[in-house]
Amino acid sequence: MSKSLFRTKKIESILAEGSDGSHGGGHGLKRVLSMKDLTFFGIAAILGAGSFSSLGLAVFHGGPGIVILFIITAIACAFTAFCYSEFASRIPVAGSAYTYAYASFGELFAWIIGWALIMEYSIGNIYVAYSWSDYFTSFLEKIGVHIPQYLCTSYMEVKRAMANGSTNAAVLEAFDKAPVIGGLKIIFDLPAFVINILITMLVYRGIKESRNFSNLMVILKMIVVGLVIIVGGYLVFSHGLTSNWTPPNDEGVKAFMPNGFSGVMAAVSGVFFAYIGFDAVSVLAEEAKNPQRDLPRGMILSLIICTIVYILLTLVLTGAVNYRKFEGIGDPLAFIFEKENLNIGWMQFFVAIAAVIAMTSVLLVFQMGQPRIWMSMSRDGLLPPIFQTIHPKYKTPSFATIITGLVVGIPILFTDKTFVLDFTSIATLFAFVLVCGGVLLIPRKEKQPGKFHIPFVNGQFIFPLIVLGSLFLAYSLSANYFRDMFNFDFSNNTDYTSGKISFMDAAIPNISLIIFWASAIILSGITFIKKYSLIPLMGLITCMYLLTGMSKNNWAWFIGWLIIGLVIYLLYGYRKSKLAQ
Ligand code: ALA
Repeated sequence: MSKSLFRTKKIESILAEGSDGSHGGGHGLKRVLSMKDLTFFGIAAILGAGSFSSLGLAVFHGGPGIVILFIITAIACAFTAFCYSEFASRIPVAGSAYTYAYASFGELFAWIIGWALIMEYSIGNIYVAYSWSDYFTSFLEKIGVHIPQYLCTSYMEVKRAMANGSTNAAVLEAFDKAPVIGGLKIIFDLPAFVINILITMLVYRGIKESRNFSNLMVILKMIVVGLVIIVGGYLVFSHGLTSNWTPPNDEGVKAFMPNGFSGVMAAVSGVFFAYIGFDAVSVLAEEAKNPQRDLPRGMILSLIICTIVYILLTLVLTGAVNYRKFEGIGDPLAFIFEKENLNIGWMQFFVAIAAVIAMTSVLLVFQMGQPRIWMSMSRDGLLPPIFQTIHPKYKTPSFATIITGLVVGIPILFTDKTFVLDFTSIATLFAFVLVCGGVLLIPRKEKQPGKFHIPFVNGQFIFPLIVLGSLFLAYSLSANYFRDMFNFDFSNNTDYTSGKISFMDAAIPNISLIIFWASAIILSGITFIKKYSLIPLMGLITCMYLLTGMSKNNWAWFIGWLIIGLVIYLLYGYRKSKLAQ
């Protein structure tokens, strides 16, 4: 059994299946997407709740220095995008990371990635839907339409806030005014639920309609984000606010990273979430006109554009307002234009509209990604055949699209924002680690004109030197770095002694760092022997580093999720797999 768990699928057979149009009753997907469309899809998927919503909390944790995290994350994502591109160019079919893992690591890992990608696409969309609802309802308020709080707040959020004795007016209103049926208070986020239904209907209807709608939304959101950067940036300089970029920390020392690098790393989930989406372009492989050329270009181009936008946005935000004011702010881009800040009413209005548009496009792309991955898993026998049903008229994976709508829609009624954000980020990072590792395992290939190939740079000496240099850098930036890493006595940690966090909460960052450095050293040794390619190695190691920012709860939930997935695989996929027959 252990051998068959790692049975791999031949790239040639994946390609043959992806292009023969025999799936779903002889109906293939429509090839209509150009490079411009794919780049737009990338931007549509990337720029959304991360910048319009979770950026506020990230800035509150890390201050202006969060820019550094955006740059580190962009580098990690760029290396990963190269790896996705290599795979997408070799295996241009719809399954994305799932299919790539099948060809490199074997079936068990492929299943694990497919299972983890449900977190990225479906659970990620729950976060986006909640954020969408926040902006949508505040936009309605601005034009004088009030939705009762109990119909636009998540149940769990109210429950937790009430348990913590919250005095937040919105939470209290939701709790006090909610109708009670059978002893249960009816509190849920109606707009988030409705937008999910509308998006599911659009995706069900067709790729062409979705594309046109998505392209329009990308243009609109880029215009407004550009406006925020130009107007906000101008005001930061003209009002002489640049000192906000080096705010005083708790000791009164002015610093770009007022809470140190650990404060910056505390924002990994939010910042990484802002980048998720470039990889979603790869699931459109079977709908791209020239996937081997255009998918890599679309992915990398969209990533570059969004990185520039994020760096500028963060600088404008942290220049306009002292970073401490972003505590609990869910609409940071509109917040900087409020009366007590830059005081420009019309900008608040524009930002609210742009946010709604931006997040709608993210919802759209992710909602399209999920069914296509399930379709691929079903082709391989790991999911029931019904998941590969393609609508005879609309040519979309119809059944899988409806199930996606349910998987996003039902939890909207029961979960809350923080939980789904962390969950999405850890699972996606995990998938990225496997994709980068997978590129190291597939055989190198001759260059073919017109196709993307990851440039080969021999990592034999460079990679161990980079690891050594990083060890030295960490030590020279903080002489206690390694001593702290092995220090499991938390009696100086006030959160620990006051019982706010448990031993494992405090220990997880240390354990993660120890595992990270040990893996980096082992990988250096293997690379020295096997002469691995530098770019995937860098993708692997940078994504692993970002994983060290995850908390105990993130790991606990994620591992629980993987175990459930494993049980399902052993009960169903392992036996039904096409490779088993
Ligand atoms: N990157 C996407 C967003 O920020 C998921 O909404």
